[in-house]
Amino acid sequence: MREVTSPKRFDEVAGSQPSPTATSAARVESGDNSATPFPEKYKSVEICPDGPSLVEHPFPHLLDDNTVVVKPILVGICRSDLKELMRARTVRHDFGHEILGEVGWAGRALGLERGDTVCFDPHVGVERTSGFGEYFIARGDSEALGRAFVKIPSETSAEKSVFCEPMACAHHCVANLMRYLKCESLANLRVAVIGAGNAGALLSLLAKHLGASVTLFNRNAARLEFLKRKGIFSTHELCLIDRRRPPGFDAVIAATTFLYPSVLSFAMQCLNKEAILMLYGGTREGDLLAGAVINIDQTRRREALVSATWLGKQFRVGGTYGALSIDFARVAHLLKTYASDFPVELLISHQILLAELPEVLRFLTKPETQQYGKIVVRGF
Ligand SMILES: NC(=O)c1ccc[n+]([C@@H]2O[C@H](COP(=O)([O-])OP(=O)(O)OC[C@H]3O[C@@H](n4cnc5c(N)ncnc54)[C@H](OP(=O)(O)O)[C@@H]3O)[C@@H](O)[C@H]2O)c1
Repeated sequence: MREVTSPKRFDEVAGSQPSPTATSAARVESGDNSATPFPEKYKSVEICPDGPSLVEHPFPHLLDDNTVVVKPILVGICRSDLKELMRARTVRHDFGHEILGEVGWAGRALGLERGDTVCFDPHVGVERTSGFGEYFIARGDSEALGRAFVKIPSETSAEKSVFCEPMACAHHCVANLMRYLKCESLANLRVAVIGAGNAGALLSLLAKHLGASVTLFNRNAARLEFLKRKGIFSTHELCLIDRRRPPGFDAVIAATTFLYPSVLSFAMQCLNKEAILMLYGGTREGDLLAGAVINIDQTRRREALVSATWLGKQFRVGGTYGALSIDFARVAHLLKTYASDFPVELLISHQILLAELPEVLRFLTKPETQQYGKIVVRGF
């Protein structure tokens, strides 16, 4: 993988020219689309029987009021994309969903116009193609399309805005934590986040912004070293998971790839009496919290809050799953207004081209691969 330069915006590409695969403009059913040079064909990366591959598709011949076309600017690779490739994701299928792009055709999507910079909210029910493509095409009614594309303020850089979707999920978790605690900030609370991946880093930045004193734990020292080198967290905020951790935290957010028994056992050691354990990382049907007989998969997906006891310690377990439109709106505001509290762009480790993506995905799904930070696909 090689580092590449900053992405260009759609309007910086001379005259918004069609991609090299184009032969002529797509037809439209209504609206002012005459100046939009859509191609006859476009490429996207799809999950094929022999792994991720670049596939060519015909561009839809008719663009109508129920269609939105977005030209991706930056698209993040998420852990869940890798889980989907490895067939380890059973409930949702969201391959290529961390999308920042520019609207090329808005149809009648409520509040959306051609030229808007938008982030995609995958929790809204619309039909869609993969964001890992030269174009991203979504279909739905005008209200759903309006909600599925969140407008991004022009002041916020693309490198920050591409984190809008993963940060909205992290925001939803922190908002749920405050709801469970019945408080409006995390001031004077000690919060532990377990798993210093991209989710853990975003959760920690949000908790800090809300006043918490945060410790970010990880199993592997190299990942903590990456965050230290980037200057996102100070040394005293980063800590290795060790099995003798004394309690002392008012809330613990478990944010590892899956919520393994070893992670949950460490999390429960960290908890103060009456504290809250937030379930953020992946869970599978039937997963239980060892010793406390709680179905963590159901608790997480239903966003339930349940009481638990472990080795005589009483605490609560709270679920969090996905994000709401309000989380996207708040994150867009936070990235613009408190840019220095959220140096999320420093998490980007590589920018790659779409043509490089299948090989990069194959590399990332190898069990021995160690990759830190966020890899983003540059649209143009
Ligand atoms: N609740 C929600 O709404 C929501 C939304 C989005 C994502 N998620 C979940 O968040 C998870 C993490 O996402 P991410 O983007 O942070 O992934 P990531 O960047 O790949 O990070 C994965 C983290 O998990 C840790 N980990 C993996 N296996 C472990 C083990 N056996 N023991 C201890 N730590 C282990 C890794 O530590 P090492 O450095 O030691 O490998 C790393 O810190 C995803 O898998 C997804 O399920 C939840």
